[in-house]
Amino acid sequence: DKGGHKHFMAKEIAEQPGVIGQAISHYLSDRGEIMLPDGGIDFTKVDRITMVACGTASYACMTAKYWFEQIARIPVEVDVASEFRYREPPIPDRTLAVFVSQSGETADTLAALRYCDGKAQSILSVINVPESSIARESDLALPIYAGVEVGVASTKAFTCQLTVLLLLVLKAANDRGVLDDAALADHISALRGLPSVINTALEQNDMMRSAAYKLSSARDVLFLGRGQMFPLALEGALKLKEISYIHAEAYASGELKHGPIALVDEEVPVVVLAPKDALFDKTVSNMQEVMARKGKVILVSDADGLSEASHGVWESIEMPKVADILAPILYAIPAQLLAYHTAVAKGTDVDQPRNLAKSVTVE
Ligand code: M6R
Repeated sequence: DKGGHKHFMAKEIAEQPGVIGQAISHYLSDRGEIMLPDGGIDFTKVDRITMVACGTASYACMTAKYWFEQIARIPVEVDVASEFRYREPPIPDRTLAVFVSQSGETADTLAALRYCDGKAQSILSVINVPESSIARESDLALPIYAGVEVGVASTKAFTCQLTVLLLLVLKAANDRGVLDDAALADHISALRGLPSVINTALEQNDMMRSAAYKLSSARDVLFLGRGQMFPLALEGALKLKEISYIHAEAYASGELKHGPIALVDEEVPVVVLAPKDALFDKTVSNMQEVMARKGKVILVSDADGLSEASHGVWESIEMPKVADILAPILYAIPAQLLAYHTAVAKGTDVDQPRNLAKSVTVE
């Protein structure tokens, strides 16, 4: 049942404020403490984290790497499961291995988990299907409470993965004594406001539809982001390729001048994900390099960022202002809706894109 929407993907995008709110409330006590099932993880005994996943779930891991390193000060390695499993990396003592998977059945992720079994200190998974193989074979499985996701393009599972991973990071940081109770309480109160901020972002649907209409005639699209917005750029490019079949690539903004800027001309739209944070000025200077080469910029930022930098851009999309750590979850919305409306404009099969399966249980 598409609940009155044209596609499951649209329904699942719209469900995000509700399911994110549920995920948050499952992990918070009335007193605002973060609770993990089964006694959780002793983060004071963890020296490093290895995170492994495929596709969109791997971008959730990459985002969590920025959070774990900056907020909890734990070094994190991220790899896609198909590489990790054959690389056979050494797993040092006191390593926590984390596997993220919507289905919990992705063959490469499961094989990577089995490789870590007996080597890592503990195996944690972040899954949507609690009875899945990955959940069953983990020491601790954290459900994301996204509900059934039907569209092949992952949407609400991604934002719920990010939400649960952020709660895990905050818990780790507090347990390790690098985030005091007052700062933790501030982050938690910001998180509680996230569903309503996501709602505000969803209300910008018309802006995203009109930008997407312009994107639909492009042959190639670039996505740029810096810091924690880089994985979101990767997610935006994957969504667009997957359902609209437009060639899209994502780069860390600072990498542009090391090669990809050679691609830019008046035919290439460049989507820039840039909330007004500490890295904003750097990203904007990369964006200006694109505009100097006649690239057509779609700038996604908040009101402050747009008033400072939207002069001369092709399209601008306004996101509400949020605490820095929440920006990756919020900016998933324009990444999803740009791809969705582009696919609708092109008339592709949004929920069942060619050549793809919802769950990849073979190598
Ligand atoms: O079920 P999983 O989260 O393990 O699936 C991983 C990928 O196959 C999945 O995220 C895929 O990249 C999506 N189609 C992306 O929208």
